[in-house]
Amino acid sequence: MKIVETVAALEVERRARGAAATGFVPTLGALHAGHVSLLRRAKAENERAWASIFVNPAQFDDPGDLARYPRTLDADLAMLEDAGCDLVFLPRPEEIYRDEYRYRVTENALSLELEGASRPGHFDGVLTVVLKLLLLVRPERAYFGEKDFQQLRLVEGLVDAFFLDTRIVRCPTVREPDGLAMSSRNRRLAPADRARAPALHRVLAASVAARQSGRETEAALAREGFDVDYVADRDGRRLAAVRLGGVRLIDNVG
Ligand code: PAJ
Repeated sequence: MKIVETVAALEVERRARGAAATGFVPTLGALHAGHVSLLRRAKAENERAWASIFVNPAQFDDPGDLARYPRTLDADLAMLEDAGCDLVFLPRPEEIYRDEYRYRVTENALSLELEGASRPGHFDGVLTVVLKLLLLVRPERAYFGEKDFQQLRLVEGLVDAFFLDTRIVRCPTVREPDGLAMSSRNRRLAPADRARAPALHRVLAASVAARQSGRETEAALAREGFDVDYVADRDGRRLAAVRLGGVRLIDNVG
């Protein structure tokens, strides 16, 4: 597995790979089995799989959250190598933001609601870095998790809006055996909250199966001890965000 740290070196690798189809998985690091599933799929469906690990300052509205974001580089590299990754891009912020954050992609509708309502500028930061990474890597396919369904829809819209030559592949949410969606935030849950957390998926799935209203679902989540931020239906899926002991959890079911 090649490790590439600069834009210039990445451009050399991109030219050297020629016409070989590339599948790309962008990440923030702190990798778990959810990320690995994307990488394995990228490897299975393309001649090579590339990943990036970049804790993107532009998408953290809260500087404390950026500082606290878990950094587990050695373990991440071992997981990527094991999953068959051919190249990992590990840029420093100065490499990606040589414009000193002067240029930014703005989306004016979906990015403002749900996750965007409580995190101003978050999705514009995501879309800006995804545009930069897709233009640098120019993959045939890029792999995104349904776990972050709103992000996935926004990235699909980005590719369409800017005529990017990459196909966005939707990947199912990987869960713990008890149903909790894998997330780097799960490790912040206190043991008692970790034991409660699977109720988020259980309640959501049951509410969709029983065709409950959003309000009924909110009430059911509150009864499980969650502080509910939203329950919303979009594109045939039910999305929810809750807080549990100060940790924000999101999930969605189809
Ligand atoms: P990150 O949170 O590291 O997630 C990277 C990719 O892994 C995203 O597409 C996300 O949806 C997917 N993913 C996370 N948990 C998953 C799970 N349990 N099952 C399946 N897929 C899962 O999302 C980001 O990073 C960033 O916003 C990024 C797109 C890299 C831009 O900076």
